[in-house]
Amino acid sequence: MEHFYDLFKQDKWDVLTGRRDGKISLASDVTGNLPSPFSDFNTLRQIFANKNLNVNDLVVLSGAHTLGVAHCGAFSRRLFNFTGKGDTDPSLNATYAETLKKQCPNPANPSTTVEMDPQSSLSFDNHYFAILNQKMGLFQSDAALLTDRNSAKIAIQLQSKPNSDNFFSEFGKSMKKMGAIGVLTGNVGEIRKNCRQVN
Ligand code: HEM
Repeated sequence: MEHFYDLFKQDKWDVLTGRRDGKISLASDVTGNLPSPFSDFNTLRQIFANKNLNVNDLVVLSGAHTLGVAHCGAFSRRLFNFTGKGDTDPSLNATYAETLKKQCPNPANPSTTVEMDPQSSLSFDNHYFAILNQKMGLFQSDAALLTDRNSAKIAIQLQSKPNSDNFFSEFGKSMKKMGAIGVLTGNVGEIRKNCRQVN
């Protein structure tokens, strides 16, 4: 996430600082609150809607998968056993699926990781939408964004601009909304020194 701060604090996105967070962090709170890479479109829409994020936010924020990597287990079922018959997910680009099978053979090394935005996973740009629209979104949750007409239209718009500016401004807006989810006030909670853990 440091990337986002460095990128946006300059001019495009006034990052609000000092968010008060809870002091308790439970794995059991994840279920139903966080989407999974296996989620379909309706599940994603519902989970986002529960936090007052709309379909535009869902598509725009998924563009964060322009950065970083994933472990094979998050998508290997799409490669080897999609419906339990040793098949490959037909919504995944067939050529790309073969490349992924070489990177993540079955069974995969649990520490192996794959770029989510191939060849561009270190640059924050709208390239995720270019690969998504070629059926190269890595997770079922990425591919799901193309299964709804409105959502698919947004994915095209975010790709088709000649540069990433539209994505950047949309991303800033949606990140502000996401950053406001469940903020605590007054003396409740604390501002974390490290955003991943309680102080
Ligand atoms: C739409 C629902 C989403 C799902 C189902 C999802 C799922 C995942 C999964 C499974 C991984 C890979 C974890 C691993 O195997 O190590 C991942 C990585 C990542 N996600 Fe998402 N994500 C979603 C939305 C978001 C959002 C909203 C953001 C930020 C705005 C985000 C930012 C990232 C980043 C930066 C990584 C790479 C982490 C790294 O390289 O270590 N994702 N996501």
